[in-house]
Amino acid sequence: MKNEVLEYMTADMETDDFYNAESIQAALKECTAVKKVICVKECDSTNNLAKRCAENGDKDGTLYVAQCQTGGRGRRGRQWISPKDGGIWMTLLLRPDINPASASMLTIVAAMAAASAIKNILKEESVNAECNIKWPNDVVINKKKICGILTEMRAEYEKIQYVIIGIGINVNMTEFPEEIKEIASSIRMQTGKRVSGSRIISAFAEEFTHYYQEFLKSMDLSNIKAEYNEILINTGKMVKICSSEEEYTGTAAGINSRGELLVVKEDGTNIKVSAGEVSVRGLYGYV
Ligand code: BTN
Repeated sequence: MKNEVLEYMTADMETDDFYNAESIQAALKECTAVKKVICVKECDSTNNLAKRCAENGDKDGTLYVAQCQTGGRGRRGRQWISPKDGGIWMTLLLRPDINPASASMLTIVAAMAAASAIKNILKEESVNAECNIKWPNDVVINKKKICGILTEMRAEYEKIQYVIIGIGINVNMTEFPEEIKEIASSIRMQTGKRVSGSRIISAFAEEFTHYYQEFLKSMDLSNIKAEYNEILINTGKMVKICSSEEEYTGTAAGINSRGELLVVKEDGTNIKVSAGEVSVRGLYGYV
């Protein structure tokens, strides 16, 4: 394979002021889960780039960041708009020694890390805004989605070859297409602040290292779930669960140690909802 990473790394990356690889790499000293950062000017999707690099032997802990994605992908086949300087479009490559069935929990680990990183920065900036998670992995500010996560993996014979966790954070965007503008927003639109990309990426790497270590201690979310449930926007609220087979409502009661959403249905039955092809909405809107 041609080395597309080097091909994309052009001189103007160095002077880019939203983020640059050197300042992020310098901040990664303590981050055992994120060891190396590769910034590219443009790619189709950082998830696709990470997959190609993983197939080519890239190591656990490599983080790919693109200034712009021409084919950014969201969950359920949706498009993810990723213009230059609009936000952070990045994917972390991991090669964890865990059961493939546990990989979906890493999405929750990443959501927790993204939410904590953003919460800490807003606190440092004395911004008074509510930053929460909408189950399973959307980060919301003032109930508007500012971050989404798409996790993919390759596993063979019950062994994970690699997991890639793609994270999109809308930082500076000021407008969204009609069809998503009721749901989507950016840190800038919700807080009036322009936060540096390097700062968010470094804070994410630090928080991810912490929560990933907690995950690896128990191989589940036992050590994280209390903190997650505290910032989960759905807790105690009515939610509508939609899958291809059925649709029902109930009250969300937080996640369990495997990241399933516990819901008490209107008839009193308790159910566990697994992330995947279900969508969870508030009764009257997105949350
Ligand atoms: C969602 O639908 O909520 C998930 C969105 C994930 C977007 C990120 S941006 C970086 C990475 N590359 C992609 O193509 N998608 C993810």
